[in-house]
Amino acid sequence: MTRHTEQEMDALLSTMTTGEKIELCSGADFWHTKDLSARGIPAATLSDGPSGLRRQPEEGDMLGINESVPATCFPAAVTTAASFDPTVTERVGRAIGEEALAQGVGVVLGPGANIKRSPLCGRSFEYFSEDPLLSGEMAAGWIRGLEATGAQASLKHFACNNQEYERFSSDSLVDERTLREIYLASFERAVRSGHPSTVMSAYNLINGTHCSSNRWLLTHVLRDEWGFDGMVVTDWGGMSERSEGFAAGCDLMMPGGSAYGEAEALAALRAGTLDERDVNASTRRVLHMMTRAQDAVAHAGEADMAEHHRIAVEVAEAGAVLMRNEGGALPLADVALDRIVLIGDMARAPRYQGTGSSHINPWKLITPADAMPEARFVQGCREDGSTSEELLAAAIEAARGAEAAVVFAGLPARDESEGFDRSTLELPEGMNRLVEAVAAVNPRTIVVLMCGGVVEMPWFEQAHAVLYLGLAGQGVGEAVRALLLGQAEPGGRLAETWPLSIADCVCTPYYAGERRDAQYREGVYVGYRYYASAGVEVRLPFGFGLGYTEFAYRDITVERTGSGWKVRATLANVGSRAGSETAQLYVAPPAARGYRPARELRGFSRVRLEPGEEAAVELELEERDFAVWDASCGAWAVPSGTYTLLIGRNCADTPLAATLDLETNTAAPAPPARWYKQPEGTPTQADFEALLGRRVIERVTGKGLYTRDSTVAEMSKTSLIMRLVYKAMEWAIARRCDGKVNYDNPEFRMQMASSAGASISSMRINAMLRAYVFEGMLEMANGHVLRGLRLMMRRVPRISGER
Ligand code: BGC
Repeated sequence: MTRHTEQEMDALLSTMTTGEKIELCSGADFWHTKDLSARGIPAATLSDGPSGLRRQPEEGDMLGINESVPATCFPAAVTTAASFDPTVTERVGRAIGEEALAQGVGVVLGPGANIKRSPLCGRSFEYFSEDPLLSGEMAAGWIRGLEATGAQASLKHFACNNQEYERFSSDSLVDERTLREIYLASFERAVRSGHPSTVMSAYNLINGTHCSSNRWLLTHVLRDEWGFDGMVVTDWGGMSERSEGFAAGCDLMMPGGSAYGEAEALAALRAGTLDERDVNASTRRVLHMMTRAQDAVAHAGEADMAEHHRIAVEVAEAGAVLMRNEGGALPLADVALDRIVLIGDMARAPRYQGTGSSHINPWKLITPADAMPEARFVQGCREDGSTSEELLAAAIEAARGAEAAVVFAGLPARDESEGFDRSTLELPEGMNRLVEAVAAVNPRTIVVLMCGGVVEMPWFEQAHAVLYLGLAGQGVGEAVRALLLGQAEPGGRLAETWPLSIADCVCTPYYAGERRDAQYREGVYVGYRYYASAGVEVRLPFGFGLGYTEFAYRDITVERTGSGWKVRATLANVGSRAGSETAQLYVAPPAARGYRPARELRGFSRVRLEPGEEAAVELELEERDFAVWDASCGAWAVPSGTYTLLIGRNCADTPLAATLDLETNTAAPAPPARWYKQPEGTPTQADFEALLGRRVIERVTGKGLYTRDSTVAEMSKTSLIMRLVYKAMEWAIARRCDGKVNYDNPEFRMQMASSAGASISSMRINAMLRAYVFEGMLEMANGHVLRGLRLMMRRVPRISGER
């Protein structure tokens, strides 16, 4: 019998000592909470997410990231988001929930609702979009699906974890309006319409405060404003200061095992600097999560794995984006498969998932080459993107003799991963050469692109068709076959802008540089909000995607309703095949817009129509859709004037327009510096300081100044002990990978970034050490060798008996 009522909780809490409560608010090990079986509540199990279940064997830890129980590997968020259809993520969430419960897992760590701020973010593939509405809606779908099974989602990484560089300790400097309109808005929507049971706080700081210690973020905004009533868990190793965490509303520290900060929290309680009510509130929320997990796992059914594989295939199809299709090169319905040549190693070793904590051990994998055995295969270039004159010559020859040539290209795994950012948007040179060579000899050259984010496509105009899959999961092969042959239609629309080059992204000059702080200088001009406002040409705009049929748009109308407006339009399938279209509604501010993006996505709707069929789409707007955040009074306000409502195929192609006059007392937001009125070039630090309303003072670091936020990599520059630790880590991690110190191996690089690149506090927590070894090393790096040695010998006291 599980406990749910508050009275039962009260009764349970009253049997616990203060020490036990504090201890319960840290896990037991990497994936479990403490076990309260003696009181009727067994340990709850948490596992990654979000592209499938990464249930590690019982002794699992941060290392050995790829060893997990076989599960269905669904397409990553980059692909699901492109469906512009929350029922797609809902299906994925539900399937993952079923697999989780069947494995005894009560909480799944996902989805990720961070905004794609720069395409260089190494973890871009795990996030949905550069747009908060789309990101929040897709995340909400995933949460609804997963939680319908009884499993609990953990919406992550809250908030402003938009780069991997120094992710454990970087400080995201961002003004409140930008936070509210862009970065928090994505989470807000996911919370308000998805109702996750748990939220994961991010590693980084926001404006000088760690997310795990941020009462404004975790209590004021998340709970008091958005109505979240669940549990907050830290990202793994992301607790900065335990008693600050309690005070902020950060309930569960994971992983457990280190007793990190527990004795200090008890001391703070006794000294009166920590309120017992905060500890009780956190304990109660952890207990609620545990009892719900217990309940759900007890009622778990069996997961239908064959059905889940089918979902993986369908979702990959729904999220595939047809980027180019000259002369109807696709579909290849009229070509016999044995007249098609598949070129490139990625046809038989596809990139279908990202590296890091979302890595799934798929129970089944069908490659494109497996799915099309009738087609000829030539290597052309290797999996890592390298090629040779011989490989190219063989590919050219095969392409010459084929009716259609399908080149498989994409980013090798080493180029995009959790833990580190990308340095370029270029594809490996061998792949670019291969595409150009094949397109020059075969007039029906199709590029199938597999990567978790934007790449530059110098050959774009030469290829006859380009089909972008993102990271399509374990059903990639069947999906590609169906899409190429026209048995399925590429239903995706780009959830992020594809710029012509990385130099065109506004934040490139100052993104994840050498600095510890992440300056969000561009303010609300993120993604298409920037390109559309600055008039910068792009390769493909946000929302873009072709299909195998054509749609016409007509008859926009706007009608006032009780609480907002209804915008309607008619869509007609004017092509010769059935197909789906995603109608997108953008709102453009009044002409004298001040500091505001030129247009913003405020609604979308996907419809599927037979040839000749038409349908009405109906999209709703509320006042908030016209509002800006006014930080001076801490509220949303609608600037007065004539707004334009635009409906169309993507952010740059909106054939329908209607206007709406809104008379209010609010003026257009004044630009804090000229750059924000009309973005051009790079915003300077001075522009940014005007936006932020304060000076930016860079944190200084060095011997004597290192803190718990410092990393082994950073300190190894001045400290011999840290250099030795660094080497020891390289050695230990190499042993777990391919035996070599090899920074080209993404798993090795990711694990180095997550250990030597992690802050001392997260090292201590993730190492699950009940001793002050890392703190001692920190003292030594600061030049206090004896003090450091003494600290290293100290054991962490047990506090469970403390009343
Ligand atoms: C990642 C989280 C993940 C956690 C547990 C962290 O390093 O940032 O997304 O859920 O590890 O694997």
